[in-house]
Amino acid sequence: MAENLVSLYENEVSETSSRKSYSKADNAGRIINSYSINFKYLFSSNEKELKKILTDNQILELEKNVFSHNEEELDNSQIIRIFGNEYLKIIKKIYQEENRNPEFDAALNKGFNNENKIHVVWGNCLDALKRMETESIQLMVTSPPYYNAREYSQWADIDLYLDDMRKIIRESYRVLDNHRVWVWNVGDIFDNDRKYTKSVWGKRRIPLAAYFTKIFEEEGFEFVDDIIWDKGEVESKRQMNNGMNVPFYQYPLNCYEHILIFHKHRLNKIRIPCPVCGSLNVNGNTQSGIGVQSWECKNKKCFVRSPNNRGKRFSARSNMMQYQFEGDDKNQIDDNLIRKWRRDIVQFSPVIKINSAGKNLVGHSAPFPEDIPEMAVKYFTYAGEKVLDPFAGSFTSPIVADKLGRIGIGVELNKSSYKDIIEKRVNSRNSLFNDGTEILCEYNINPQ
Ligand SMILES: C[S@@+](CC[C@H](N)C(=O)[O-])C[C@H]1O[C@@H](n2cnc3c(N)ncnc32)[C@H](O)[C@@H]1O
Ligand SMILES: [Zn+2]
Repeated sequence: MAENLVSLYENEVSETSSRKSYSKADNAGRIINSYSINFKYLFSSNEKELKKILTDNQILELEKNVFSHNEEELDNSQIIRIFGNEYLKIIKKIYQEENRNPEFDAALNKGFNNENKIHVVWGNCLDALKRMETESIQLMVTSPPYYNAREYSQWADIDLYLDDMRKIIRESYRVLDNHRVWVWNVGDIFDNDRKYTKSVWGKRRIPLAAYFTKIFEEEGFEFVDDIIWDKGEVESKRQMNNGMNVPFYQYPLNCYEHILIFHKHRLNKIRIPCPVCGSLNVNGNTQSGIGVQSWECKNKKCFVRSPNNRGKRFSARSNMMQYQFEGDDKNQIDDNLIRKWRRDIVQFSPVIKINSAGKNLVGHSAPFPEDIPEMAVKYFTYAGEKVLDPFAGSFTSPIVADKLGRIGIGVELNKSSYKDIIEKRVNSRNSLFNDGTEILCEYNINPQ
């Protein structure tokens, strides 16, 4: 607490411990205490609560981790943050160990921690996800394989496609960290759903984004936004009406895709320490949103209490958003980007794929522009976190994530077609910041 608070205190609170404390009311009438905290105090004052939640060994581990930090020069809030973070790490580790898929692959996950690499996983992303640690990825962003719209599509009808996607979405729910985001870019393609007719006449606009929204919600995610990507005038013959300027022959040119945003909010009722005073003497009262447990600090000497002397209210999510990264330049988002994505219809150009000779320039039939992962990574992750694209194609998302100081991970099924393209892209990206290190890290989940 600021020094000047001490001189302004109104009454000294008597303390049984040797800790000195003072309290005063601020302009808003909130009661503000001032006293100094150290790790030892946090352990002794929280002893009872820690014992309810952790085993003796886990408490020892927490002590070891917390005391490995030097608290000499730190202020109260830094000390509390370290204690809170180390505590949350232990809680998370316990949850992960209890909720792994039987196919969990420790070596694979250890590899992902190397932050100087772009991680390329060859294989089926469902198999890759099963091997991945629970709640270990902080953002997922992709454009999934479009139902029968491209050469890698293989489904006999729309429902079989959606069933496959649902399995992947279900497994991704486990792997995505709690209170984190899935960014799903999909177009409402024009195709035959193959449910009612297999003839070319059976083509129609298929509202894939609507179908996916329902699937994501059924698998536990919360729908947050549907940002329309306005791709401009996109060439297609569909608007041609053969000169029939009469009713029922008119269709607009399709020039949008959806950027669907889903949140994961798994309800977690494990007590978390008050971000203001570090006390585990907290009560879970309500859920402040779908799956968001909120807490109220019951420590009467907490630094901040409301005018009617209620304790600080917080959730794991507010902790993550408000207390972890304050004043951290690396996580600042520039104004231009915020202006660009201010409205939920956003215009930018698709990647131009085909040159005038009909040659595919990028070497992949459906790369997506860097705009989408750039927004997703900057809006929904902090520096150093892990970003996964399970349908990575030419690896736009992992490359952008890496450029922005995050760990980029991608899974791609089609190794034979894309290996060279990916290497070329990753290497040319490397040449921009060439420090001579090999940055591609490959894993084979389903060797081809
Ligand atoms: C629409 S593309 C993604 C394009 C990517 N955003 C880019 O910028 O290049 C979908 C990719 O998913 C791959 N794919 C399809 N099914 C897959 C699966 N089960 N596991 C992993 N990759 C898969 C396809 O081979 C294709 O490259
Ligand atoms: Zn408190």
